Amino acid sequence: MGEKVVFIQGEQIDLLVKNIDHSKIYHKWVNNPIVRKYLSVEVPESLEVIKKEWFPDYRDYKNIWFEIWHKEDQIPIGMVGLIRINYIYRNAEIGIYIGETEYWGKGIGTEAINLMLGYAFNTLNFHKIVVGVNANNTQSLKIFKKIGFVEEGHLKDMEFINGEWTDLKWLSIFKKNRKG
Ligand SMILES: CC(C)(COP(=O)(O)OP(=O)(O)OC[C@H]1O[C@@H](n2cnc3c(N)ncnc32)[C@H](O)[C@@H]1OP(=O)(O)O)[C@@H](O)C(=O)NCCC(=O)NCCS
Repeated sequence: MGEKVVFIQGEQIDLLVKNIDHSKIYHKWVNNPIVRKYLSVEVPESLEVIKKEWFPDYRDYKNIWFEIWHKEDQIPIGMVGLIRINYIYRNAEIGIYIGETEYWGKGIGTEAINLMLGYAFNTLNFHKIVVGVNANNTQSLKIFKKIGFVEEGHLKDMEFINGEWTDLKWLSIFKKNRKG
């Protein structure tokens, strides 16, 4: 199953370098209707595309994804990433999903976002991180607000989900407003 490479250590979880040998697991997560509901995955993601596009043969500076590894159970459970990175303005979007849904509600999403913010602000010296959250994704909104993200914008009818138009909220957090 390839080697497990810890990049950032946490409490319940570590953030690992993503692993092409886990492509089948990633494939299962992103195509799961419960997981992908608010991830804008409307078209099936094939295993071949995951292996090719998620693992290009160059260093992808625009997108940095980590695998979320459950320390006690010793299994991969999700992904957290910085996407659409802009090194001139030092900002990026954050993306997260816990693919193994039985691990929801245990504080893991919160820990993964906090570890990623530590990396973005303290290692990469970014200025600002933003996130687009569907207005109906109440669980996710609550988590980002609890962490310190502040709502900046509300855009109407941005995503068509389960037969209805839904709104998108944009939230952000600045390095200067974050402790630690
Ligand atoms: C959004 C998502 C990443 C959240 O992950 P999560 O691990 O379930 O989130 P958390 O456990 O940190 O927070 C959820 C709840 O657990 C609570 N919690 C926090 N620490 C806890 C702990 N140690 N023990 C038990 N519960 C805890 C939180 O307070 C929160 O409570 P709430 O239900 O009152 O809001 C996950 O639901 C997911 O993958 N969803 C699908 C993809 C998605 O929507 N991604 C976000 C796109 S913006």
